[in-house]
Amino acid sequence: MGIKILGMGCYLPEQTLTNDDFTRFVDTNDEWIRTRTGIVERRMAGWEPTWYMGSEAAKKAIAKAGISPEEVGLVIGCSVTSDFHTPSIASVIQYETGAVNAAAFDVNAACSGFVYALDTARRFLETDDSLKYVLVVAAEALSRFVDFADRSTCILFGDGAAAAVIEKSDKPFTSALCSDGSGARLLYARTVNIAEEVKLESDFDDGFPEKRLHKLYQDGKEVYKFATKALPKAFHLAADKAGIAPEDIDWFVPHQANVRIIETAAKNLGVPMDKFIVTLDHYGNTSSVSIPLALCESIEKGVIRRGQKLALIGFGAGLTYAGAIFEY
Ligand code: UT7
Repeated sequence: MGIKILGMGCYLPEQTLTNDDFTRFVDTNDEWIRTRTGIVERRMAGWEPTWYMGSEAAKKAIAKAGISPEEVGLVIGCSVTSDFHTPSIASVIQYETGAVNAAAFDVNAACSGFVYALDTARRFLETDDSLKYVLVVAAEALSRFVDFADRSTCILFGDGAAAAVIEKSDKPFTSALCSDGSGARLLYARTVNIAEEVKLESDFDDGFPEKRLHKLYQDGKEVYKFATKALPKAFHLAADKAGIAPEDIDWFVPHQANVRIIETAAKNLGVPMDKFIVTLDHYGNTSSVSIPLALCESIEKGVIRRGQKLALIGFGAGLTYAGAIFEY
């Protein structure tokens, strides 16, 4: 059993930060950021809570799908920058959208989150006959977690939300969900800063390099190396299950972290870059939102059309990576 994306919606905060804006906080410049990452500008949440951005995207997705919120049976939220440790962002969005008959929970697989959530949605749809529609919502406010004194990370990230209403389909769907926890210390943000707040009276060192309170830490070089291998691997693991070759895919929708990572992945897969959707120039890395945002925008622009075969491939903190192949 496969899935069909019935409708999508996205929400982008109004505030835009250009590369030049960062020269006010850190020693950087537009040329370095463009050539090393491909990013030109990104959106920054101002007053908007993460759940609000997710709810707005979700309402648009429900309207696009042409269903009523009461028909949604499950809301799956994805976020690494939720407003709350608890409740789940999905519960808040369930209420805000009027999806009164839905169960709600979150999936945290970092930037691979949407692919994990899509696969989870498919499994629920397959095993629960009474379930008609699943609402998958990714929402992120990375700007609240990045360290604006760290030039190697703060320039990379952006905020926003994207959502999709999913239903069953008889078209094939294959996926691969993967994780390599040995890389957990390469990219993380603490919930509490042990060194500053808890002051553990022991010599225990958990191996996570210390960082300013609750701020995002990244070993960019190591994550880069991982990412260039993870994207092709995620594709092949999902594609091999159905005997699909790279040339069978109409559109690759990769996690939008760095255009050089995408170019290397394209080369390793033997696929021309014009088969890859790239939106990071305008939005930066929006973590779990990056894949559904790229998907949503490409559908709205008429680039991705019904009947085309898609490969969603993501990687992120964990270190997780995941691929999903299905027809739009
Ligand atoms: O979804 C999360 C997944 N995360 C990622 O995919 C990130 C993966 N990593 C990357 O995309 C890249 O490693 C970065 C964009 C983070 C860094 O690019 P890089 O080409 O690997 O640069 P680098 O770390 O090797 O740094 C080269 C130089 C260094 O200076 P020195 O030591 O050579 O003097 C850095 O200090 O560039 C310097 N640098 C900067 N210069 C100007 C680092 N950040 C900046 C900056 N502006 N913003």
